[in-house]
Amino acid sequence: MLADEKILVTGVSGMVAAPIATYLAQQNEVWGIARFASDSVRGDALYSNPLSRASIEAQGVKTCAVDLGAPDFSELPDDFTYVLHLAHTRLEGQLDRALQVNAIGAGRVLQHCRRAKAALVMSSHAVYSPPPDVFHRSREGDDMGKAVTPWAPSSPASKISLEAVSRFCAEAFDLPVVIARLASVFGPGSCTWLDVCRKIAKDNFRIIGTGDNYHHIVYVEDLVEGLRRCGQTKGVEGKTYILTGPGPAKLRQLLVIIAQELGMNTSFTSLPAAPFRLYQRLCDFAHRSAGIQLVRSHYYDLFLMDQVFVADKARDELGYFPKVSLKDGFGRLIQWYREEGYLTPLVL
Ligand SMILES: NC(=O)c1ccc[n+]([C@@H]2O[C@H](COP(=O)([O-])OP(=O)(O)OC[C@H]3O[C@@H](n4cnc5c(N)ncnc54)[C@H](OP(=O)(O)O)[C@@H]3O)[C@@H](O)[C@H]2O)c1
Repeated sequence: MLADEKILVTGVSGMVAAPIATYLAQQNEVWGIARFASDSVRGDALYSNPLSRASIEAQGVKTCAVDLGAPDFSELPDDFTYVLHLAHTRLEGQLDRALQVNAIGAGRVLQHCRRAKAALVMSSHAVYSPPPDVFHRSREGDDMGKAVTPWAPSSPASKISLEAVSRFCAEAFDLPVVIARLASVFGPGSCTWLDVCRKIAKDNFRIIGTGDNYHHIVYVEDLVEGLRRCGQTKGVEGKTYILTGPGPAKLRQLLVIIAQELGMNTSFTSLPAAPFRLYQRLCDFAHRSAGIQLVRSHYYDLFLMDQVFVADKARDELGYFPKVSLKDGFGRLIQWYREEGYLTPLVL
């Protein structure tokens, strides 16, 4: 483990960064930045449920409020030895603002910390173009830039811009930078599966199609271990790694695990996929030909999309072996939803 370093973690209150900062704070001086803003300021951020500033500080992390949309670093030291950049905002229809925070803001962080020994920058699977073959397993060198991600519409452009800005900073400031591309993360702190869990808990979940499409998700704890290895493995500066879970699983398998954890029925009514696929094509056509985003375009991707990655490079070069099974992971996630009151009868 890193010890006696001075480390900056951006987006420290987020689902992925908070456990990393907590872990590092055991033996290092760790500083964390985020806006620590009120819900009304953060109102348009999609799928984000950050921890409070007090709970971050309770883990021994020093905090500083910085808005990367217009950063003021006057209260933040600049003598960090390592930087972990995870701050990110997911916005709908405000790409300029998203790029300002996610790409230019990242550049400002790396500029501020240019004397560090190394920086780790968090990208995502949203950089990859949808593969022509649905069974294709994405690798680091695959085609990028044509993805549509309904859960985070601004993310594909943001993450590609972030990677470009990070590479520029690496050259301009002679700063070793490692880029990690994360698969979809699940675990306490993540509300991505909440809607599905609520519908299953109400016994009114319906599968569109057969549920035989593949998802390849990673539990937050495995991911933290992967990031730790990116930061601590010698000789990986300048490289990019995909970090994902133990293996892809069919959607139906994930839904059965969720239903079992909720103590609910594991057989689901199916709807034919054809009308939804047709609507998805219409949405794509409207978007490409007229730039119009139709309602619920890509809302049904959960059922219609396959997402499979190859993480051989991380395994071979970082010794990264994700361990948490889907059953354990969803068990812990649902436990967290219960503790947070997200699955109470009132909410249902
Ligand atoms: N979770 C996933 O499934 C997933 C998948 C692939 C990649 N990733 C990547 O992993 C990283 C962490 O993701 P996450 O899911 O943990 O994110 P998250 O929970 O939404 O946390 C985002 C963090 O960024 C901060 N932030 C947002 N806007 C900011 C701004 N303008 N200035 C400063 N800080 C700001 C947030 O705090 P405030 O709102 O208080 O500022 C929060 O601390 C991101 O780079 C994300 O793209 C995540």
